[in-house]
Amino acid sequence: MNNTDALNIYNQKLEEPEFKRIQDFMLNNLGVKLSPIKIVMVNSRLVKRLKMSGIYNFPDYLNYALSPEGKRSGELQCMIDELTTHKTEFFREPEHFDLLRERVLPEFIQNKQSWLKIWSAGCSSGEEAYTMAMVLQEFKQVHTTFDYSVYATDVSNAVVVKAVRAIYPAVNLKTMAPDLLRKYFLVSKDEQTELYRVSKTLRDKVQFSMLNLVDTYPFQPNSLDVVFCRNTLIYFEDKAKREVVSKLLSKVKTGGYLFVGLSETISQFSSDIKQIAPSAYQKIR
Ligand SMILES: C[S@@+](CC[C@H](N)C(=O)[O-])C[C@H]1O[C@@H](n2cnc3c(N)ncnc32)[C@H](O)[C@@H]1O
Repeated sequence: MNNTDALNIYNQKLEEPEFKRIQDFMLNNLGVKLSPIKIVMVNSRLVKRLKMSGIYNFPDYLNYALSPEGKRSGELQCMIDELTTHKTEFFREPEHFDLLRERVLPEFIQNKQSWLKIWSAGCSSGEEAYTMAMVLQEFKQVHTTFDYSVYATDVSNAVVVKAVRAIYPAVNLKTMAPDLLRKYFLVSKDEQTELYRVSKTLRDKVQFSMLNLVDTYPFQPNSLDVVFCRNTLIYFEDKAKREVVSKLLSKVKTGGYLFVGLSETISQFSSDIKQIAPSAYQKIR
């Protein structure tokens, strides 16, 4: 690519027909709805892929990315990585972790159960799953018969790779309680940035994998105690959202819990759940 081509890439405009192809792909394959105003965001995110792939215009880029060759080469996955939104943080929406600590875990022990299984569905770069692990590990230190497994999945390969690496810049940990930071993070300094890595104790408790929530789930029916699917279904079209909620609930034990993001509600999708707090549901049958 010469310099003129490189400059032109940033002037490429995503037109309606190509945007429609992307909308259809995201809806039919991920359940994600891209509203018309997202055209600008999609344009700016995919320009990077034009540059990386060396295909200098959107029609040709899409022909390639959506072809069997684009799938084989990984370009389709790179496109999905760009088109999904990954905003997350440690202890995001902390009331849900309070509920886990103050209601779910004591109830679990009272019911004489010992091994809790929890799933972060739409885990992004891992902050939610490692937060779960911190809360559960703290509980385990007090209740010695208690143990747990954390499963964490996402459709984006790029974020799952980050999650497994478990390295975060100091700025992402600004609000972390100092005792948790000391206990569960190892600090290292590269030349400019202070970086923290989640401790091996927690990393060993979390199993990350790629999973598209519109596909089938690798869990037995009624086998999970708690599922968090937060700030993920907001991007879904209604029919896909209803189907995903139903599939998630089929994996939760009766008496178990499903948490969604604080701006989301799912009462309308199932009569098998009772709301126990904002965006927190218990499966009652
Ligand atoms: C905004 S993040 C939410 C992360 C975390 N749950 C939280 O609340 O902080 C949404 C995540 O959902 C993932 N996602 C979007 N569509 C998905 C799908 N069809 N299957 C699985 N994950 C999906 C995205 O890749 C993204 O990482």
